[in-house]
Amino acid sequence: MGKSSKDKRDLYYRKAKEQGWRARSAFKLLQLNERFDLFSDIERVVDLCAAPGSWSQVLSRELFQKQDKKNAKIVSVDLQPMVPIEGVTTIQADITHPKTLQEILNVFGGEPADFVCSDGAPDVTGLHDLDEYIQAQLILAALQLTTCILKPGGKFVAKVFRGRDIDLLYAQLSYLFEQVICAKPRSSRGTSLEAFIVCLGYKPRAGWQPKLELNKSTEEFFRGSGIGKAENMQYLELPEDERLIAKFIACGDINDVDSDATYTLDTLDKIQSLNPVQLPTAPPYKRALELKRLGQANSKRV
Ligand SMILES: C[S@@+](CC[C@H](N)C(=O)[O-])C[C@H]1O[C@@H](n2cnc3c(N)ncnc32)[C@H](O)[C@@H]1O
Repeated sequence: MGKSSKDKRDLYYRKAKEQGWRARSAFKLLQLNERFDLFSDIERVVDLCAAPGSWSQVLSRELFQKQDKKNAKIVSVDLQPMVPIEGVTTIQADITHPKTLQEILNVFGGEPADFVCSDGAPDVTGLHDLDEYIQAQLILAALQLTTCILKPGGKFVAKVFRGRDIDLLYAQLSYLFEQVICAKPRSSRGTSLEAFIVCLGYKPRAGWQPKLELNKSTEEFFRGSGIGKAENMQYLELPEDERLIAKFIACGDINDVDSDATYTLDTLDKIQSLNPVQLPTAPPYKRALELKRLGQANSKRV
């Protein structure tokens, strides 16, 4: 396979390199914004699970370059180190750890966020049930953090996989937001279960003080929140009256490229291959290469 083989199989990958985005995911956020106008009236933004940083790049260009918001603050959090982006504070941390919330609040000087987004995905094991479970835990961690930091009326967007129990999540969210929409940007492959929940108009639950604490389970966190049966995480089968089928909206221009199609680069006048915009900072293969250099690759498990 030639160097430009992936460019042909995935034109968004190619376009990302042409336009200077660190990942093709940038187009997902851009297409979500085209449909839901996410970037208007926002100054304090949290980008969870942000590495390598294409969503943060989109946010930085939008707030600092296009809207010229000098007071805007963007905080990006990931387990992986991130190469700096103009105007973005990066925090290397676990979004499931309570102290991460305090670190974000410190950057905002204690002020709430206007917009929280999360494109989080765990390392896939290939065991579907386990992968789906870990992904669900990551979304709940993002949601817990969001309820502690988002201003009333604020927006929340997160990646989901439309698995078996997704209506439970929609139901939980519908108690917390005025609108809950399941959106599929054109740049997200049609063959993938990936979608994005777009939650608009945060409505904090009256009398509920969400508080992140170490060793507190998700169930304990939501206790007292009054988000219906969904408050009790044991209920995977919701009663009929609490089921919520979120509106499903495809977004992105119909004339945008198709993420499931293969294109020929020469007909598109894109014959030259391009290098990635940002190489991974801490790829898992780095250690393996070090051991190989030292001639120890076969003697140790890496
Ligand atoms: C699909 S990538 C995000 C891509 C990013 N939105 C972009 O545009 O460049 C998913 C990220 O989730 C991060 N992640 C997974 N679990 C996490 C956790 N518990 N805390 C923080 N980041 C996490 C991974 O390290 C990975 O960088």
